[in-house]
Amino acid sequence: MDAIHILGGNALFGETKIQGSKNAVLPVMAAALLIQDVCMIENCPHISDVYHMQQLLESIGCKVVRSDKTLTIDARNILEDTMSGDHVTGMRSSITLLGAMLGRIGEVTMAYPGGCVIGERPIDMHLNALRRMGVVIYEKDGCFTARVKALEGAVIRLPVSSVGTTENVILAAVMAKGVTVIQNAAKEPEIVTLCEFLREAGAVIEGIGGSVLIIQGGHRLHGIRFRVPADRIVAGTYLMSVLGAGGHIFLEDAPVAQMRSMLRVAEEIGAEVHVTREGLNIIAKEYKKPIPYIKTEIYPGFPTDMQSPLMAVLSTCEGESVIEETIFEDRFRIVEQLRKMGASIELRGRRQAVIQGVDSLLGCEVAAEELRGGAALVIAGSMALGETVVKNCHFIERGYEDICRDYRNLGVHIFGK
Ligand code: EPZ
Repeated sequence: MDAIHILGGNALFGETKIQGSKNAVLPVMAAALLIQDVCMIENCPHISDVYHMQQLLESIGCKVVRSDKTLTIDARNILEDTMSGDHVTGMRSSITLLGAMLGRIGEVTMAYPGGCVIGERPIDMHLNALRRMGVVIYEKDGCFTARVKALEGAVIRLPVSSVGTTENVILAAVMAKGVTVIQNAAKEPEIVTLCEFLREAGAVIEGIGGSVLIIQGGHRLHGIRFRVPADRIVAGTYLMSVLGAGGHIFLEDAPVAQMRSMLRVAEEIGAEVHVTREGLNIIAKEYKKPIPYIKTEIYPGFPTDMQSPLMAVLSTCEGESVIEETIFEDRFRIVEQLRKMGASIELRGRRQAVIQGVDSLLGCEVAAEELRGGAALVIAGSMALGETVVKNCHFIERGYEDICRDYRNLGVHIFGK
């Protein structure tokens, strides 16, 4: 798909089912590498990041078979210790294979990971934490090699509660000798999913969901069947859409318990939200209140991944809203594109955006520069009068299985070509 065309300006009505979570399935796929057995992972979304992870696993010797939404990963034979190429450099999550490879074979050589350009995104914390477990790391020709004779449990205090670093340490720690304690661990739901997967496979992990994780390493892991939970950020994207355009939608399977901060925002803007056993009902009015101040935070605060989608909504809320981005230092790339559509947004440095609501956005051609910013442009397109064309859709395809299908289910005139 090259571009998405949207005829916007109408309220949303309808229902759609929420796909499995990208940021949950990727570390689970990496974790399957630790298991000398076969795992079946259900509810895997059809997105390009999952495809990249599949290719990476296959490149080192795993057998991976996809049948609709189920991936069967046979990691009984690992034949390679080197990973490079587009599958590594094009996706941040490739870094979770570092902890998994060290846990499984004690060595890996890989290119530096890529992913969305939303800030510097270094991997210093990952490397420092693994060094505490006995890993030796050296760099050569744009790649790095990490090696360990035997991983050792350690007490590791993360300077920032980093999602990816927490995942990497967990993956190494379940195979280490002794106990590992991660202090200031990330508490994001995707960490909980990874721990649950490993626990079902035989790992011993305490403190799941909290900021201190205690992992007893060295337990033998066995193959399991595991279901990936629904994607809170995808559900949040459609929630933001109905807030922006108005209407009444139902999001089947929306993981509402993980979406509390987003639901508070929805109510502050003036929508009604009703949680049912099957999902989330949202009734949004045409009149929307601004949000005087909101900042992105680690879980359970308002997620950075929802910052650009919220900005699109606030661009037509009557009055002034302020967003502060506290996680990534370059996540306002969408501002220029929203301005093209008529939004009034002023940046105060790289961390604060001041949004003066305008009557309406106007459709035009815009370009995605990263995944969630791209989704936010589709939201803006569904709100805008006339036709919006969103270019660079490959960014969106990294995380949304079929965004056009989902929006059509919600009554939007949209197609990709
Ligand atoms: C994960 O990225 C998610 N990605 C991101 O989602 C999400 O925005 C982010 O967590 C925060 O919730 C995946 O799960 C694949 P971090 P991650 O390590 O792990 C700094 C999406 O759109 N840092 O928690 O890379 C870092 O620069 C993506 O789905 C270091 O300085 O995020 C950032 O400022 C985008 N050194 C902060 O920590 C390090 O070694 C938090 O990043 C690691 C991180």
